[in-house]
Amino acid sequence: MTIEFDGRVAIVTGAGGGLGKTYALELGRRGAKVVVNDLGGNPDGTGAAASPADATVAEITAAGGEAVASYDSVATPEGGAAITQTALDAFGTVDIVINNAGILRDKSFANLAVADLQAVIDVHLLGAFYVTQPAFRVMKEKGYGRLLFTSSAAGVFGNFGQTNYGAAKMGLVGLSNVLALEGAKTGIHSNVIAPIARSRLTEELLGPLASAVEPDLVMPLSLYLVSEACELTHEIFSVGGGKYSRVFIGETPGWFAGKGVTPTVEDIAEHICDIRAEEGYTVPGGANDDIRLLLKALG
Ligand code: NAI
Repeated sequence: MTIEFDGRVAIVTGAGGGLGKTYALELGRRGAKVVVNDLGGNPDGTGAAASPADATVAEITAAGGEAVASYDSVATPEGGAAITQTALDAFGTVDIVINNAGILRDKSFANLAVADLQAVIDVHLLGAFYVTQPAFRVMKEKGYGRLLFTSSAAGVFGNFGQTNYGAAKMGLVGLSNVLALEGAKTGIHSNVIAPIARSRLTEELLGPLASAVEPDLVMPLSLYLVSEACELTHEIFSVGGGKYSRVFIGETPGWFAGKGVTPTVEDIAEHICDIRAEEGYTVPGGANDDIRLLLKALG
């Protein structure tokens, strides 16, 4: 099976370096027309430069591919709209959005300043709304779309010193889950990755692990998830260093207090092990599935 992107138009945010650049280059190699978006700032989100996006575009075109640069920030509604507009102006449509742009402002919670919270939420969470909504409208109209959101183990599982980042990254899981449901009828799929890769954001944190987690090892799963061949939607994957795993949010069978019974706090204490026991868990495909589980318990 060969995965091609001929005729597809892809937006990759933060594609001037790191993971986003590997996606943009391979999409270009495989026939996609690529909007290479990158603000070109510092790892903490300050500054701006055209050169990172330009360099990725130059590499794609030198290899015979088609690409156009966008220097807009994802962190404003105007920037998000301009990114889709760039795709429409240059290539006439949009089929794929990879939300990948990111910054870090790590601080322990007690020391977190509002500005560091705001900046991180703006780029990762609000940025994904601003970039995806205009593209989603185009996709809905044409009946096809592939969305990918970049979460992080820092949000899905938690990590010291990253409340701002972790909350934004877990917010993306909620955004993708709802878009998977809203897009289902019109051929729009939405998935999430939580990557581990060497980049300017992680080089120091990773230490000796850095050389084992090249961004190129994340790229194949990301491209598969945004390909026409991929039927998956509403899923989350952990990916890095050549290991590819599904992550899911499951629900235990739990404990039912009984019809019409209001348990005491002590009843909860007595049954907390039953409530938490993982055997026989299910993975609800949406809030309605969760309600169905309740209705089943109620008989
Ligand atoms: P990176 O710093 O090389 O790439 C991020 C890119 O986003 C940069 O080129 C930057 O200029 C761009 N960017 C930042 N703010 C922007 C804005 N407002 N508008 C447009 N572009 C903007 O870092 P890396 O590691 O490749 O990060 C890619 C994504 O993966 C990020 O969302 C990051 O949070 C996420 N991630 C990375 C992990 C890793 O191990 N490298 C772990 C978990 C998540």
